[in-house]
Amino acid sequence: MAKTKVNILDLQKKTDDSEPITMLTAYDYSSASLVDAAEIDMILVGDSLGMVVLGYDSTVPVTMEEMLHHCKAVARGAKRAFLVGDMPFMSYQAEIGEAVHNAGRFLKEGGMDSVKLEGGQEVVPAIEAILTAGIPVLGHIGLTPQSQSKLGGYRVQGRTAVSAAKLLEDALALESAGCFGIVLEAIPATVAQVISSHLHIPTIGIGAGAGCSGQVLVFHDVLGLYDRLQPRFVKEYAALRQTIIDAFVAFGSDVRSSQFPAQEHTYGMKAEEEVEFLGSLAE
Ligand code: KIV
Repeated sequence: MAKTKVNILDLQKKTDDSEPITMLTAYDYSSASLVDAAEIDMILVGDSLGMVVLGYDSTVPVTMEEMLHHCKAVARGAKRAFLVGDMPFMSYQAEIGEAVHNAGRFLKEGGMDSVKLEGGQEVVPAIEAILTAGIPVLGHIGLTPQSQSKLGGYRVQGRTAVSAAKLLEDALALESAGCFGIVLEAIPATVAQVISSHLHIPTIGIGAGAGCSGQVLVFHDVLGLYDRLQPRFVKEYAALRQTIIDAFVAFGSDVRSSQFPAQEHTYGMKAEEEVEFLGSLAE
C-alpha cells in the first residue's frame, strides 16, 4: 500500500484481495507516531485508554472530553493510518441526536476519520443516523467491554449455537446499516470465520482467530507495558515494562551517585563571561 493516507476504499480493497488489515490502538502523539512509522493501516483511539492510560477499572467511566483530548494528540502524531475514534459509554446509547452530535465531534474536534461503537441490532438506528451525517462507522460485536456488567464480566461470547447465530445476525445488520467494517472481540474462531465469510466488509478480530480480514491489539499489550492481567488473545511482542523500570532505576542510581548529569549534558558560559559573573559575586 502507498505511503499516502489510508482510506476506507483501501481497507475494502485489502479485504477483497484477501490481504490482512492491521490495526493497533494509540492514545497520544508519541504512540501514534510510532504506530504510523510501522505503517499499520488503522489506529484506534480506543476507550481502553480508560484502563491502560487513565487507570480506571473499566471503560465505563470514560467521557467524551477524555476521548477527544487523546484523539487530538493522536491526530497530530499519525499522518498515514486511517483513524478511528471510539465512542465512549453513554455517548450514543440514550438519544440518536446526541449520538450524531458526539460522532461529529470526533471528526470536527478530534481529527478522526471515523467512529466505532459497540453493539448489534440495537445500535443500528444510531449507526444509520451517524452515517447519514457522513461519518464512517466501525461496528463492534462479541465481547463489548462497555456492557461487561450486563455480560457478567469479560467473557468469550458466541460459544453456544444460539449466541453464535445471534452474532451472525448482528454482523449482517451492521453491514446492512452501512458500517465499513466490524470488530469481532473474544469469540470462537469458527464463529468469526463464518461471520467473515458472510460479509463483504472487513472484520477486524481481537481474540477471534485467524479467519478475520484483519487483527487489532492494544498498544500497551503488544509492548508489555500494562501491569494487570492479559487476556489469552494478547501476543506480547516486547516486554518494555521491565526495560523501562530498569532505565528509571539506572537514572535514580546515577543521580544519587552524581553520575548524571555528566559534562556532556551540561551547558557552559563563555570563559570571560563566567569570570566576570563569578568575579561580580566576590565584590
Ligand atoms: O477500546 C479498545 O481498545 C477496543 C479494542 C479492544 C478493539 O475497543
